[in-house]
Amino acid sequence: MKIIRTKDYGEMSRRAAGILAAQVILKPDSVLGLATGSTPEGLYRELAEMYERGELDFSDIHTVNLDEYRGISTDNDQSYRFFMQKHLFSKVNIRPECTFVPNGEEADAEKACAAHEAVIKKLGGIDIQLLGIGNNGHIGFNEPGTEFVNETHCVALTESTIAANARFFASVSEVPKEAYTMGIGTIMRAKKILLVANGEQKAEALYRTCCGPVTPEVPASVLQLHPNVTVVADEAALSKMV
Ligand code: F6R
Repeated sequence: MKIIRTKDYGEMSRRAAGILAAQVILKPDSVLGLATGSTPEGLYRELAEMYERGELDFSDIHTVNLDEYRGISTDNDQSYRFFMQKHLFSKVNIRPECTFVPNGEEADAEKACAAHEAVIKKLGGIDIQLLGIGNNGHIGFNEPGTEFVNETHCVALTESTIAANARFFASVSEVPKEAYTMGIGTIMRAKKILLVANGEQKAEALYRTCCGPVTPEVPASVLQLHPNVTVVADEAALSKMV
């Protein structure tokens, strides 16, 4: 695991965007695994700016997203599809038909999850998977539990995740209670992993991810077993590491 320590959120965003940009330049038909949440907003802004300056071309890129709320429509401004559209897809020359987010409008969970997994397989796997990390160590919506789940599946969100996500909704009661998420196996099969984290609220989870035992109680700890992981985190998020 390679850890890049940055001064602050801005530098974290630039360094992480640089890694994704290198992937796009070196392999223009890459499959990028993407994440939503507040952490990657800055890096998506950086990528959009590089595209504007003519430094990046997304015309042969495919993307697959980690997760989506179940029972949410794509035009709901809290859906992850909407987030991706707003922060990246509408800002670069990616072809809409090459962007895949789990289908939150599909009520049949098995169908939605199998379809997402099939897309990833058909694309030949993920070249680089971008991850944020939850305060409780979750990746995607793989919440702390008793076992690692392999493939894309439907999960009930924990109280702490619902509370953390409530900031994006009018009230906590409006936060969806379930989501479709890539499994730990889906994530681990990506050729490379890029995890971004900022802020003191992530320090404990990041410490347990990098230095604690590999356990489903801290889902991100499984990344210790992946051969190619880069963590880009600011000083606050790394404050428990030294
Ligand atoms: C988002 C996702 C989540 C977030 C995590 C951190 O697609 O899968 O695991 O990465 O909850 O969220 P932020 O960045 O908002 O702190």
